[in-house]
Amino acid sequence: MLSSRAVLLAASRRPALRRALVGLPVTRRVVDRFVAGETLEDALTAVRRLAADGVAVTLDHLGEAVTDPATARRSRDACLAALEGLAPLRLGPAAELSVKLSAFGQALPGGEALSLELVRPVVAAATGLGTTVTLDMEQSATVDATLRTLAALRCDFPGTGAVLQAALFRTADDVAALAVPGARVRLVKGAYDEPPSVAHVDRDDVDAAYARCLGVLMRGGGYPMVGSHDPRMVALARRLAAEYGRAADSWEVQMLYGIRSAEQVRLAAAGVRVRAYVPYGADWYGYLVRRLAERPANLRFFLRSLVPG
Ligand code: FDA
Repeated sequence: MLSSRAVLLAASRRPALRRALVGLPVTRRVVDRFVAGETLEDALTAVRRLAADGVAVTLDHLGEAVTDPATARRSRDACLAALEGLAPLRLGPAAELSVKLSAFGQALPGGEALSLELVRPVVAAATGLGTTVTLDMEQSATVDATLRTLAALRCDFPGTGAVLQAALFRTADDVAALAVPGARVRLVKGAYDEPPSVAHVDRDDVDAAYARCLGVLMRGGGYPMVGSHDPRMVALARRLAAEYGRAADSWEVQMLYGIRSAEQVRLAAAGVRVRAYVPYGADWYGYLVRRLAERPANLRFFLRSLVPG
């Protein structure tokens, strides 16, 4: 039987639903909870606010699955503009970028080379500002290409980070390969609907896999980025950091903008490095649907906002 998550993610790919949802005025309220705004200025306002609370950021200019090279080039330009906008804030590594290679044309014919060509100047500009770029991870079919792009970028820009999804069976090997000095890895549970041939489908199995991968990363020599709102995973990360004698600046917790915001500030005040993933831009649809699909409470929040009053 299909889960409600699978149904929602599948339905989200239907253009008619997309048009209906995007057109609803109430959708706006829900978008505002999860997205910092449509413009770079909106995003920079959120960055300043979070920085004042001791929370670092990774900015995400929303967009994915572009269908032509011109749009892919616009993704590069938007990222370069974001870095220009961040420069006067002088936040250094406390403000980095996250990018989805599908927004840089990865899925187009010859897209692996195109996305590398377009993302390279973004990573170079980030390095020039003393900060980094993290490659988000998308559907399982893109993992090999994304990891090849990561390897190519790390030859020149070793601080480039990647995301690994605990739900995928292959991730056990991928974390082991990247738990090495200099590697920055954000471990997440995985937001995409994957077939049982490649991924755990049961939530408990995903959680167990997350805990195992976290152990490998925290024990290893890299820089683990604990991408989760799950209090159990954050507590486990803190226990492992203590057990392996990790300095406070050798790992961090990452959470999404608008989710457990008070906890982000509380953890930062307690001496944990915390980074918020701050999405902004007009192309928020895919991002929003993944947030609704991953947690019944998020979907209820959306459905409640459809009821007037
Ligand atoms: P999960 O959703 O399983 O929730 C576990 C528990 O956390 C809940 O029971 C509750 O206690 C608590 N919790 C969760 N949400 C809460 C809320 N709104 N309020 C209060 N408590 C809450 N995915 C991907 O495939 N590729 C990627 O590149 C990324 N990138 C990324 C960056 C960052 C910084 C984060 C935090 C996440 C991602 N993700 C991602 C998404 C990720 O794969 C996953 O879908 C979500 O983080 C949800 O999983 P959690 O681990 O947060 O817990």
